[in-house]
Amino acid sequence: MCGIVGYVGPRAATEVVVGGLQRLEYRGYDSAGIAIYDPEQGLQLRRSVGKLSNLVQRLGQQPAIGHVGMGHTRWATHGNVTEENAHPHRDASGRVVVIQNGIVENYLELKSRLLEMGYHFQSQTDTEVIAHLVGHYYREEQALEPALRRALAELRGGNAVVAFCVDEPERLIVARLGNAGGVVIGTAPGETFVASDVPAILDYTREMVFLEDRELAVITRTGVTISTLSGAPVTRTPVNVPWDPVAAAKGDYKHFMQKEIHEQPRALMDILRGRIDQEAGQVQLEDLTLDDRALRRVERIYVTACGTAWHAGLMAKFMIESLARVRVEVDYASEFRYRGPILGDDALLLAITQSGETVDTLAAMEEARAQGVPSVAIVNAIGSQAARLADGGPIYLHAGPEIGVASTKAFTSMLAAAYLFALRLGQARGTLKPAQIREHLQAMVELPGKAATVIEQSLPICAELAERYHRASDALFLGRQANYPIALEGALKLKEISYIHAEGYPAGEMKHGPIALIDEDLPVVCIAPRDAIYEKMISNIEQVRARHGQVIAIGTTGDTLLATKADHVIEVPATLPLLQPILTVIPLQIFAYDMALRRGCDVDQPRNLAKSVTVE
Ligand code: AGP
Repeated sequence: MCGIVGYVGPRAATEVVVGGLQRLEYRGYDSAGIAIYDPEQGLQLRRSVGKLSNLVQRLGQQPAIGHVGMGHTRWATHGNVTEENAHPHRDASGRVVVIQNGIVENYLELKSRLLEMGYHFQSQTDTEVIAHLVGHYYREEQALEPALRRALAELRGGNAVVAFCVDEPERLIVARLGNAGGVVIGTAPGETFVASDVPAILDYTREMVFLEDRELAVITRTGVTISTLSGAPVTRTPVNVPWDPVAAAKGDYKHFMQKEIHEQPRALMDILRGRIDQEAGQVQLEDLTLDDRALRRVERIYVTACGTAWHAGLMAKFMIESLARVRVEVDYASEFRYRGPILGDDALLLAITQSGETVDTLAAMEEARAQGVPSVAIVNAIGSQAARLADGGPIYLHAGPEIGVASTKAFTSMLAAAYLFALRLGQARGTLKPAQIREHLQAMVELPGKAATVIEQSLPICAELAERYHRASDALFLGRQANYPIALEGALKLKEISYIHAEGYPAGEMKHGPIALIDEDLPVVCIAPRDAIYEKMISNIEQVRARHGQVIAIGTTGDTLLATKADHVIEVPATLPLLQPILTVIPLQIFAYDMALRRGCDVDQPRNLAKSVTVE
């Protein structure tokens, strides 16, 4: 939550910083601000409430000139959405500026101390406390680095902080405390970049280093010097991030979400690259450090994740239990970390996260580490904290940057990654013979083509459905077994971008409460492919129809019976039962997108949400 960008080099800093913020706006869009320094113009602060476009407009009237600077896009935590509360924040002298991603948990205590010392506050934010503290220590130290170190030593909570002082105009200093905010530093000849996330600086470099917890980096034109907060030097070799800047751009699509929905066939292909040997019936996950012996020792897997990734976790349970015969528990990461879990020697933690930054998921991984339990992360963001925390190795989605706040391609890729992991586990444990694995891999290889068909077929039908149902105030999503998590995901997609109240339910549970909601105005989305539970699902559909609910069914291609039972049918090609959700979810993504569009909602930046949830 909140995006930060900084730059030191020969380019116009405003351009680099604002360009970077545009790529990070998915992290928060309550307000935005920049601080740019130039020896003649001095420190120029520009801040605006609302979307970044407001700041851009402001900069059109009041440009900010210089070759060093920082910017911030805010997801409000402390203080209302006002210009005073927008970052950057200054110290009392006006010579130090600071931006922050995260939360200073003890800010009230620090603030009252600073007030007693005679400092005045311009905002209600916790970040201004950092600015005053740094300014305070600067007067004693006469240097930014020790001043920042002293200030950071007093903070509790998790944050990423960038600081600048006009008396040291050739440098930015960035620090990271805890897991609340990723920091990536990009280097190129004669210039250095810092950001919360890779896409912000992809246009300029792919050589990047990631800051770890309790590290501080001094950024100048000539590069970066990293040390721990206690001052020990750190040597870190930059990694080459293989993402293409074009992948982080919207291209001809109207929205990132639309683009990402359409990228799913490609993503489903990329996730298999170099990982499967169809002839031998084998799966190899290149970064997994757990060998066959270690995988055979695993008797229990704890899957932990948030939001859409948690829905992928529910599916991972079906996959792992069925293919590898290992017991699986699935927890919301935010609950897992506080329930005092007893993991045991034979356990493995499987974290699932697109961003690799979700603070609760990271905390769950740390809990596993504290108990000596290895963890594996199914993760999209290369080099992210989850990927680095996973001592059993990351399983990268290779889906490319996902910018739309509503997760789409990352979700279907998570399902495919979980399937690959389940096959790899089954292979190691001998629950699957090569011939069986071959059959599963063949089905996976066919998925990209089938996903493309689903997209093509769903587009016209979903546009019609949105035309008809976009005024609905509620919607119900029903599925059973493997398609129950898909019902949850369909409901989440619809509510997060269209603001229609939606609930996902196991269809069999409908009679125990939600059936009371059904009337002729309620769209009920029923996921009913031809699987082992199909007939039960048909009975549930009959029950909805008997109460005059409007049935929108997702069914298997050519299912003539379903066509007689539902008001609308979207067909998806058949595949293996546990891969079917990868296809059944796609029409639900398109439906949510079209509904949001018809309601005039901001699809990529829905209200109150941020893409990376780095605060509790
Ligand atoms: C998905 O559409 C959501 N916006 C959200 O639930 C998301 O999946 C969740 O915050 C987890 O994020 P992560 O995958 O980056 O950990």
